[in-house]
Amino acid sequence: MEENKTTPNLVVDLCGLSLKNPVIAASGTFGFGEEIEPFYDPSILGGFCTKGLTRRPRPGNSGIRLQETRAGLMNSIGLQNPGIEAFVRDILPRIRRFGTAIIANVGGETMEDYVAACYEVSKSSVDMVELNISCPNVKHGGMAFGIDPDVAAKVVRSVKRSCRKPLMVKLSPNAPDIVAVARACEKAGADALSLINTISGLAIDVHARRPVFANVTAGLSGPAIKPIALRMTRDVSKAVSIPVVGMGGIETGEDAAAFIMAGAAAIQVGTAGLVRPDTCQRIIAELLEFMSREDIGSLSEIRGII
Ligand SMILES: Cc1cc2nc3c(=O)[nH]c(=O)nc-3n(C[C@H](O)[C@H](O)[C@H](O)COP(=O)(O)O)c2cc1C
Repeated sequence: MEENKTTPNLVVDLCGLSLKNPVIAASGTFGFGEEIEPFYDPSILGGFCTKGLTRRPRPGNSGIRLQETRAGLMNSIGLQNPGIEAFVRDILPRIRRFGTAIIANVGGETMEDYVAACYEVSKSSVDMVELNISCPNVKHGGMAFGIDPDVAAKVVRSVKRSCRKPLMVKLSPNAPDIVAVARACEKAGADALSLINTISGLAIDVHARRPVFANVTAGLSGPAIKPIALRMTRDVSKAVSIPVVGMGGIETGEDAAAFIMAGAAAIQVGTAGLVRPDTCQRIIAELLEFMSREDIGSLSEIRGII
């Protein structure tokens, strides 16, 4: 006779925020949530990260911005966004109705930019701030703040002083020692860490004999980076005691389970959602199926077991 199994519990506590499940749409791949409505109801998500927001509006980079690779995607968007003031005034009131956690992803060019932008957005009704010190596609700032532990600590400490919401710091896989940066951010007051942002890569147009992207390099994401992201998620989550949100190439419920086994409190899905808009919805269903099949009652039973 079939055993009567209870439905697995997907609820996650992230810095005091109760998420319905661990699946969060990643910054820059989900707009502000409204684009997904024709495909599924965004309220099913654990949460979503907004496109990277900056103090002032940014037009983004010129030239080619996206190019597929055999197992991934390269992008050089350059943080195109309407600026924090317009986001808080025009967009946030519309997307609050989704009833899921809204995480404001914040970018900047200078220390002052980061502090002012995080303070401004944290006064609004967003649930959390994700500090992007790992964008490889901007000429000034961005990743420069995320590759050196001392510089990363300085920006986190400064932002933390005035940020009114939990602060999650998004780390760069391009740092020579991501664990050292993670530890420095934790010590400087980060409430959570997310990783990884894209890996810096190069694409060459051999016919034109020049780089495909105007900025020369661009960020690689998608399935190609998953093993690296998993390894870094495990290394970082073993080194810190704050929650770690893992991402990089997640496409299925079993991929999500792997990141949780590597120590992630929750996961983010980026590129796979650009390939198929309903990916996050499917991942939630697949994760539930996996847990039922494996007789896992809650995520804490598998978190960090690797
Ligand atoms: C088109 C595109 C735009 C992105 N924009 C941002 C951004 O604005 N801020 C940010 O922190 N990360 C941004 N990212 C990085 C993703 O949030 C994520 O860290 C990365 O793509 C790895 O996850 P994935 O392999 O699931 O896509 C972007 C990625 C892509 C593909």
